[in-house]
Amino acid sequence: MAVSTKGPMLISLFLSSVMILLTALGRGEATRLDPWDPKIQLPTQPDESAPLDQEQEAGTRWAVLVAGSSGYGNYRHQADVCHAYQLLKKDGLKEENIVVFMHDDIATDPLNPRPGVIINHPQGPNVYDGVPKDYTGGNVTTENLFAVILGDKTKLKGGSGKVIDSKPNDRIFFYYSDHGGPGVLGMPNLPYLYGKDFVDVLKKKHAAKGYKEMIIYIEACESGSFFEGIMPTDLNVYVTTASNAEESSWGTYCPGMDPSPPPEYITCLADLYSVAWMEDSQTHNLKKETVEQQYQSVKERTSNYNNYATGSHVMEYGDTKIKSDKLYLFQGFDPASVNYPPNNSILQTPMQVVNQRDADLFFMWQRYKRLDHEAEEKAQVLKEIRETVNHRNHIDGSVKLIGTLLYGPGKSSSVLESVRKHAGLPLVDDWACLKSMVRVFETHCGSLTQYGMKHMRAFANICNSGVSQASMEEACAAACGGYEARHLHPSNRGYSA
Ligand SMILES: *[C@@H]1O[C@H](CO)[C@@H](O)[C@H](O)[C@H]1NC(C)=O
Ligand SMILES: *[C@@H]1O[C@H](CO)[C@@H](O)[C@H](O)[C@H]1NC(C)=O
Repeated sequence: MAVSTKGPMLISLFLSSVMILLTALGRGEATRLDPWDPKIQLPTQPDESAPLDQEQEAGTRWAVLVAGSSGYGNYRHQADVCHAYQLLKKDGLKEENIVVFMHDDIATDPLNPRPGVIINHPQGPNVYDGVPKDYTGGNVTTENLFAVILGDKTKLKGGSGKVIDSKPNDRIFFYYSDHGGPGVLGMPNLPYLYGKDFVDVLKKKHAAKGYKEMIIYIEACESGSFFEGIMPTDLNVYVTTASNAEESSWGTYCPGMDPSPPPEYITCLADLYSVAWMEDSQTHNLKKETVEQQYQSVKERTSNYNNYATGSHVMEYGDTKIKSDKLYLFQGFDPASVNYPPNNSILQTPMQVVNQRDADLFFMWQRYKRLDHEAEEKAQVLKEIRETVNHRNHIDGSVKLIGTLLYGPGKSSSVLESVRKHAGLPLVDDWACLKSMVRVFETHCGSLTQYGMKHMRAFANICNSGVSQASMEEACAAACGGYEARHLHPSNRGYSA
């Protein structure tokens, strides 16, 4: 994880110019530019961009924030979502217009060194305070998410009952953070969220004239594949994703990295694409910054400055006309940001990261390393690591064997792993087939788990190659016959599809 020395140099250059600026304004006491430091708020002056377009201003801003995971090892996704809530709230969105989905098991987890506190940056403030508990625990489901987006209270099961009750002139901001796989996004309660179903919900919301414009930001592995080939350009919805259709997204602010969380933390605090947009928003004047400008700076930072070994390709889908809009139309505006310089580039430094898929093992390993004097607990963590690694090997091996049984040893991997490069082709032609193949696999071989989501492309390709469900059934039974999935059997956890 090499870190270039250019970043710090740029920062100190920039810091010294900020110092000069601050001194000139008689605020010389500021010694560092920290997006959380209230001292960097410059004196408010009349906003140059006023008068605002009254027509543009009309309507309500809504937001849906979703953390798709649970468990202390996935701390970062819920931390991202809490941070997003604070940001939108500070920028003037009303609590009644922000719907939050989070499992809500992090702040009270026994491993959390600061009970009741969640942070999203090594020096960051508590972002947990005041976050509404709209859909938590068992109520964080795909079904409830769709009901919330559609504003359909009759379809809700549990939760606060808050929905996006939006009007034709309103704008909606949607942000999601978690694990994903080809065509799917994780949810803490199964089944997962499938790209085609999500896009169908957007079409319904559009047909019901439920908004003027919508922006969707998605952090997850392979998140491009969630929209590739199926996201229409005529719904007034603009989407960006953390990664393209075939790569990981990245966790950051992890133990041992620079900057590192406070030493008592053994889990990553954030994700690369997520901090890229949020730290960009909180250091810019959102009445001046456009959606396009944020896309460009997020793209640059998420690529880890063109180092795709530790970064990913931010992708865009849908209606790109929206990119010329100013960000405040979606994310609101903090009057204290009015004089932030347009090139507020404090953040242009490479980040150290961990692959989303390895983050849970990384967390267990951190825990294991620190348990030197607690033999019993250490043995327990070792057992968890062993089970996790064994189940991963079992899932990987089973998919490989199923491919061999279906296509023969020579062709198997080329069929299962093939990526449909042709622009505009979706992951799978028949999404119902994909779901049924997932269920057949899990019945015989056990739950995919968040790691196993990466095999969605294999199941998609099995559908694309015309394999019948009966042949798949036979191959799965042969490959996994006799395997004891125990607590990882879908009868205990539900199916991923
Ligand atoms: C920011 O932009 C201003 C005006 O274009 C320029 O003078 C300044 O050097 C820039 N600062 C950085 C850090 O790039
Ligand atoms: C789901 O929401 C209902 C209603 O708010 C609540 O009573 C229930 O405890 C929630 N269930 C879970 C599992 O969190």
